[in-house]
Amino acid sequence: MINTIDYQKIFLEITSEFTEADDIGTIATYIPELGKVNPAKLGIHLSTIDNQHYAFGDSNESFSIQSVAKVLSLTLALKIMGGELWKRVGVEPSGSAFNSLVQLEYEKGIPRNPFINAGAIVICDILVTCLDNPKQDLLAFIRESSGIDSINYSTQVAESEKKCGYRNSALVNLMKDFGNIHNDVDVVLDLYFYLCSIEMTCKELTQSFMFLASGGVNPTTNQRVISPTRAKRINSVMLMCGFYDEAGDFAFKVGLPGKSGVGGGIVAIHPGKFSIAVWSPKLNANGNSYKGMKVLEALTSKTQCSIF
Ligand code: DON
Repeated sequence: MINTIDYQKIFLEITSEFTEADDIGTIATYIPELGKVNPAKLGIHLSTIDNQHYAFGDSNESFSIQSVAKVLSLTLALKIMGGELWKRVGVEPSGSAFNSLVQLEYEKGIPRNPFINAGAIVICDILVTCLDNPKQDLLAFIRESSGIDSINYSTQVAESEKKCGYRNSALVNLMKDFGNIHNDVDVVLDLYFYLCSIEMTCKELTQSFMFLASGGVNPTTNQRVISPTRAKRINSVMLMCGFYDEAGDFAFKVGLPGKSGVGGGIVAIHPGKFSIAVWSPKLNANGNSYKGMKVLEALTSKTQCSIF
C-alpha cells in the first residue's frame, strides 16, 4: 500500500487548531495514583499496516491505558473459550456509564458488553478459570501478541485502585449473586485491577492493536493473534461499545472502532489501513479523553478516511 496522506502535517494542523477553550476536562482522580499525571500531556501515534509511523508530542511516554486493555483481555478470552463466552456477556451498547450498576440488576447479572466494567470483570473471571497463573499468563499473552517484552502492570496504580474500588466490588458481588462469577470475587477483582493498570506508550498501543487493522495478524511479528472473523467481531464491539454512553457520538463524529480509558488514552482502528493512539489525560463528562476525541474527529474529517 502506498500511503498518500501526510499524517504528520495533519497532526500539526489539528493540534495547532486547539484554542484556549479546548483546554477543558478533568483528569481522573478517583484512582489517586492517576491524579498525579501531568494534565498537559498530548501524544499521538499512527502506524499503517505497511509499517509507516507518524508521531506527535508525548507519543513515547508510558501512561496508564486503563480500559483500553479490556480489548486485549477479551481477545485472550475469545481465543481460549470461543463463542461460548457470549452466553455470559452481551454485545450490545449499554448507553450507561462504564461503572453503572443499574442495568445489571434488571438484566440478571449478564453485562451488556465486555467493555463496561461489569463485562470486563466477567472476562477476568473466565481468565481466572482458564489460566494457571492469570496475571502472569495475561501479561505474557499481551507481550507476545504485541511483540513488546517490556509491557508491564503498574503495581502502584493497581493497588491504588484496589483501595477505592467500591463500585467494582459492588458489581462483582452482584454478579456473583446472579451466578455469573465462578471464582472468588477478590481474585477476580485483583486480575481486573492489574489489567487496568497496564502501561504503554502511544506507539506501543498502535503496535499492540495493529492485529485488529490487519485481519487478526500482527504485521510486526507476522504472528496470527486471532482469526479474521474474531478480529471483525472485536472491531464491531469496539464500534458499538468502546465509549460507553458516548459510543454513538464517537461513531457519529469519528467513524472508526475505538476504545478509551480513564487514563486519557484512546485507540482507534481503520481496518486494512492503520491503528492510531492518542493520549491526553483530561476527560470529558463521560470519562473519555476530551482532546483525544477531538483529534480523532478532526483526523477522519480532514482525511475523509473513516470506515463509512
Ligand atoms: O474500573 C475502573 O474504574 C478503571 N480501572 C477503568 C475505567 C476505565 O478506564 C473506563 N473507561 N473509560
